[in-house]
Formats: sequence, structure tokens, C-alpha cells
Amino acid sequence: MKMGRSLAFASAAVILTGAVHAAEVVPASVTFDENKVDMSLTGQPGDAKAGEATFVSRKLGNCLACHEVSALKAELFHGNVGPSLDGAADRWSPAELRAIVVDSKKVFGPDTVMPGFYSLNVGINVRKDLVGQTILTAQQVEDVVAFLETLKQ
Ligand code: HEC
Repeated sequence: MKMGRSLAFASAAVILTGAVHAAEVVPASVTFDENKVDMSLTGQPGDAKAGEATFVSRKLGNCLACHEVSALKAELFHGNVGPSLDGAADRWSPAELRAIVVDSKKVFGPDTVMPGFYSLNVGINVRKDLVGQTILTAQQVEDVVAFLETLKQ
């Protein structure tokens, strides 16, 4: 009896997860048009506030390791490996910002040191437990793009 119930529960959970992911574009299916990814990866609008949290998180975007952002001056460390992102939304359209975050190599070329955050093409020295995983989820990418869209001068 007990076994039957937990099995039923497990399959309900599988169906639910399937429904959530059905709307998401998997990494291999993201369509690049020149330097743009026009379609939202999730069909949901990004949340700029959540995107800011992902951007500063050392475990997620860790974008500040390489980029400076004046709007985030309360954060302690800003790196300068990449350009300051002040005014990034004036320089790039939302579709271009999405392309940069999904797979920077498609925009800046194969030699960029910026990671592709929604790409499985991350090089050969990947920790075994991370093979087949993207750094950010589809929704985290949308949230970070929404945050980048606030960076206007
Ligand atoms: C390891 C360093 C590194 C990390 C981490 C990194 N970037 Fe970058 N990024 C770069 C470099 C370097 C460039 C400039 C392009 C080039 O020369 O490769 C760049 C360029 C960009 C640009 C275009 C800049 C402009 O204004 O023209 C954006 C937008 C951007 N990055 C966003 C992000 C976001 C968002 C994150 C975190 C999710 C991030 N980057 C994480 C190194 C990094």
C-alpha cells in the first residue's frame, strides 16, 4: 500500500516537472540570428530584481568578478577583466544581451574569456559533475537580461 502511494506521487511529480520545462528552450535548441537571440528562453518575462541577485551571486552569475557596474557600488569587489556594464542597455538590444549571456562565444568569438551561461559548449576542462549542465537556468538568463536592460546611462 505504502509503496503504491509513493509511486503515484513520484509519477505526479514527473508530470509536473515536465509541464514546467515544456515551455523552456533547451540549450542545444537556442536559435541565434546573427548576434541575437530574439525569443525568450522561457516565454516568461525576466525579473530584474531576481536578475540582479543572480548577477552578483558568486555561485551563479559571478558577473562582478569580471565587470564593474556603478549601480551595484554597494557590492565589494568589481573586476575589470571585461568592460564596465554601465550603459550596456544603450549599446545592445535585449536580443543581443540575451545572446551574450546565453553563449558569449557566438557574439565575441571562440577566444573570449566570458563563460557561456546557457551553453553546453564550455570547453574540455569541465568538472565531471558539471558535464551536461548549464551555469544558469533558462529563467535565470531571462532575469539577468532584464537586469542588464536597466543599465542605461
Ligand atoms: C571571466 C570573466 C567574465 C565573466 C565572469 C563575465 N564576463 Fe561578460 N564579458 C567579459 C569580457 C572579457 C567581455 C568583452 C568581450 C570580449 O572581449 O571577450 C564581456 C562582455 C560582456 C558584455 C558586453 C559588454 C559591453 O558593454 O559591450 C555584457 C553585456 C556582459 N559581458 C555581461 C555579462 C554578464 C551578465 C555576466 C554574468 C552572468 C558576465 N558578463 C560574466 C568577461 C566576463
